[in-house]
Amino acid sequence: MAKSVSGFSKLTKQEKVDWLTAHFTNVGIEAKEILQQYWNEDRILQSLHDDFVENTLTNFYLPYAIAPNFVINKKNYAIPMVIEESSVVAAASMVAKFWSSRGGIKTKILSTIKSGQIHLIYHGSSEGLQLYFDKMKPQLLRATENITENMRQRGGGILDLKLKNITHELDNYYQIHVEFDTKDSMGANFINTCLEAIANEFRRPDIEIVMSILSNYVPECVVRAEVSCPVEELYEENALHFAQKFVQAVKIAAVEPYRAVTHNKGIMNGVDAVVIATGNDFRAVEAGVHAFAARNGKYSSLSHAEIKDGKFRFWIDLPLSLGTVGGLTKLHPLAKLSLEILDNPNAEELMQIVAAAGLAQNFAALRALTTTGIQKGHMKLHLTNIIKLLNAKEDEKQFLIQYFENKTISHKAVVDKYYEMRREKE
Ligand code: HMG
Repeated sequence: MAKSVSGFSKLTKQEKVDWLTAHFTNVGIEAKEILQQYWNEDRILQSLHDDFVENTLTNFYLPYAIAPNFVINKKNYAIPMVIEESSVVAAASMVAKFWSSRGGIKTKILSTIKSGQIHLIYHGSSEGLQLYFDKMKPQLLRATENITENMRQRGGGILDLKLKNITHELDNYYQIHVEFDTKDSMGANFINTCLEAIANEFRRPDIEIVMSILSNYVPECVVRAEVSCPVEELYEENALHFAQKFVQAVKIAAVEPYRAVTHNKGIMNGVDAVVIATGNDFRAVEAGVHAFAARNGKYSSLSHAEIKDGKFRFWIDLPLSLGTVGGLTKLHPLAKLSLEILDNPNAEELMQIVAAAGLAQNFAALRALTTTGIQKGHMKLHLTNIIKLLNAKEDEKQFLIQYFENKTISHKAVVDKYYEMRREKE
């Protein structure tokens, strides 16, 4: 049977499942059962999820968890996190609790400007194009007035637009760079609609508009999160040594890209989990954050740390374009609930919560890496997963947890101990 198909999008969901399982799975019946097992019994809810994307066959679950005890700017939060990686939520919770008794996490918005570009090719003189742009500028803004009316009423809209000459990098390449404030929306549709309207107005037979699109690089939409305390308040013992090693670890990530990528990946564990839980676009955030990490020409750490005048300070600046209205934020019932749990933040508040989660995650990873090593905590949590896979009874589970309290945990060690215990029982 042919594995290519036309008109797939027009098939019903069941027909799509039938076609896929007949052509691409070995045991069609089993595959069908797996796919259908994840259908929600509530037909209205299922149909809502079916419509989020195209050619939907089923739902793919990710755990929805909560990290409590975050104190951000003196306000208490329980932060929803959607993530499949074990130890992230435990680490965030642990660090949130740790800093809650040391003044909490402090955050502030540094800027909220987003941008989009109209990329164009022009073969004439750059002076001529600049004169045309200057003359057209009021008209270009007028062309967006209908689109920006509501946004302007909310205090946002187009902030500025300028012509950029980039012919030194690519022959005949110019762009109109437009800056926006999109208030509580991520603003992708708004920005793109404005850009297309401006491009249409600017169009001339000798100007080739290549494309008009927002940028997910938002180096001027930045939030800072930080924690600080006197060094001696970090831990009862060896606080200075801990702080120095911690700062050293951050400095290594600042200069060494191999380390910086993993360091930042740990930060994104926290960031993405909250971005997804609130129905935001984590691919946009990821792309923007990593470009920001390389903004000085070399990929580097997103976080920073110092010891100054006996005070430990650890902070992060993150470019985040987030929304609390529009997109999935109100459409996905769990995203909506996440926002409710977070006390219905506006976009700026959500940026601060997400940055706090990223900072907490980075603190947890660095704390573990510079003290016990990462595997200890990982394996402690992994132990319960291995025990689950073994179908161990409750008393066997308790025995294994106790047995491995002071021992190195590995998959083999747990399995071996389990069977040894079973043999002894028989
Ligand atoms: P612990 O000290 O053994 O934990 O740490 P504990 O059992 O004493 O509990 C202390 C608190 O931790 C708890 O307080 C919870 O808040 C939390 P309580 O609830 O009891 O009042 N906690 C948990 N929360 C939920 N479920 C749990 C749980 N266990 C503890 N099961 C912990 C254990 C895993 C937290 C610690 O070992 C740790 O932080 N390890 C680091 C783990 C980590 O950073 N994971 C992130 C993913 S790895 C990563 O980021 C990639 C990496 O490559 C990045 C990089 O290189 O920078 C590492």
